[in-house]
Amino acid sequence: MANLYDGKMAAIYDAMYQTFVNYDEEYNFYNNLIENNKTSSILEIGSGTGNLAKRFNQNNQNYQGLDYSEDMISIAKERNKDCIFNKGDMRDFKLDNPVDSILITGRSTSYLISNDDVNRTFDSVHKNLNPNGILIFDFIDANRFIPFTKENPIIIHEAEYENVQYIRESHWDTNNALENFMLEWTAKYYAVENGEKKIIENDFSTVRVFTRNEIELFLYLNNFEILQTIDRKTYAYDTYVIVAQKKS
Ligand SMILES: C[S@@+](CC[C@H](N)C(=O)[O-])C[C@H]1O[C@@H](n2cnc3c(N)ncnc32)[C@H](O)[C@@H]1O
Repeated sequence: MANLYDGKMAAIYDAMYQTFVNYDEEYNFYNNLIENNKTSSILEIGSGTGNLAKRFNQNNQNYQGLDYSEDMISIAKERNKDCIFNKGDMRDFKLDNPVDSILITGRSTSYLISNDDVNRTFDSVHKNLNPNGILIFDFIDANRFIPFTKENPIIIHEAEYENVQYIRESHWDTNNALENFMLEWTAKYYAVENGEKKIIENDFSTVRVFTRNEIELFLYLNNFEILQTIDRKTYAYDTYVIVAQKKS
């Protein structure tokens, strides 16, 4: 099975998410938080195919992206020729210079499946922020998403991009044998050609959703103070967005 962010899947991801996500709105949302906290330099982790990067770059902001998928980075670079994207793992990265704000966008925290993954990420973020720097990230709310997956065994999302119609059928398995609140996500991707549905890829991944108090404790343990918690609905998930400040 394909990995959602590699090879052909990176291009399918990019095509479908242009429909799922209103990146102008997404940019305004995150940029407001950045401006409210008077930060200037920005690192986006999980920068993906560079849709937010494009908006930060167009506004001449001091932005750089980080992602661990080479295929996602190459689409991001194609879209933003004069922008910096580094390949790296959020659990262990080192920037040349610390920044004022770090964003982890688009529910990329779902890939931090062990407690060690979460702690290493927050620790790396802490080390790469300037004093009083700001961490902004979203996560899928376990208390709302798990019941939703139980009540909806197949979840369908449709997208249209460059005259191609795409369909994604997702099944989320709340396998109780897994640690934490992990889910096994099986997705089938189809393109509709001449009215006929053709499978283009199967994808399987293990992801984690979080309770709000789990995240609060992880942040406390990694020397962050929460400034704001925002309840935010996205195209498919109920999320919380956290704004937290680095404490020395
Ligand atoms: C759901 S996509 C979000 C992409 C983008 N933020 C958006 O909203 O379109 C998740 C991204 O996180 C990246 N990612 C997952 N685990 C990562 C890790 N440990 N370190 C860095 N990037 C990671 C993936 O390669 C992918 O590009």
